[in-house]
Amino acid sequence: MSIISQREKPIGIFDSGIGGLTVANAIHALLPQENLIYFGDTAHLPYGDKSADAIRYYCLKIGKFLLEQDCKMIVVACNSASTAGYNVLLEFFREHALFVNVVDPLVEAVASHGFSKVGVIATKATIHSAVYPNQLHRLKPQLEVASLATPLLAPMIEEGFVKNRISRVVLDTYLNDPAIKNINALILACTHYPLIRPVLEEFYAGQVQIFDSTYVVAEAVKQRLTEAGWLNDSSQQPVHRFCVSDYTTSFEAATRLFYSEAITLEHQPIW
Ligand code: DGL
Repeated sequence: MSIISQREKPIGIFDSGIGGLTVANAIHALLPQENLIYFGDTAHLPYGDKSADAIRYYCLKIGKFLLEQDCKMIVVACNSASTAGYNVLLEFFREHALFVNVVDPLVEAVASHGFSKVGVIATKATIHSAVYPNQLHRLKPQLEVASLATPLLAPMIEEGFVKNRISRVVLDTYLNDPAIKNINALILACTHYPLIRPVLEEFYAGQVQIFDSTYVVAEAVKQRLTEAGWLNDSSQQPVHRFCVSDYTTSFEAATRLFYSEAITLEHQPIW
């Protein structure tokens, strides 16, 4: 297989649903020449309330689907899946593609600063895995890491409730939780949360530095592809496909919140 054909293969990106489109959007903005195949496992969302075993099973099946589409790289654009399923994906498929998760680039970005206390907000699956405190402590043993499960946020954001009365009450309740008081930085450890970043920035008024998994992950994708010599430098119009395991018109309508261009969803009932 020639190096040219490898470069032109698509990047596969997956999430439990449409939240990972925030990551796809950042990859598209940074690497506009890349062909992309997005897979949202809408039949099983939310992953944040599932067991690690269930998430691992979903990841393997989706990984297989994306490899069948000839992806050169698979980006796990979901924290719950990165936490529970990344290692098993590597175990089964590392010889067939490059893999990037959303946790490692965020941890590295946060650890490169001199914060004393960092907050992490995420789904129950991600918080219960303790992946962020564990990885941050490996790099910065003295860092205080305060974690808070915020399970109402992903469904609320998917409903488009980002800056209304309901979202204000939910966010005020979570952000005033004593667990995440006096932090210098906050990690948005869910790929839905970039949509509420402006509201969080307003809430913290510059006192807390906010990190999300959009541009840091896109940069990590670029770096891995550059190292492999697999960046697509073709002048052809890139092809972008957006697949879901369960199709509804409301999923399609909600994509508008997460992606900067209009999207048509393709139903791929892989289950
Ligand atoms: N987007 C997923 C994540 O980053 C959260 C949504 C879900 O629970 O499925 O963890």
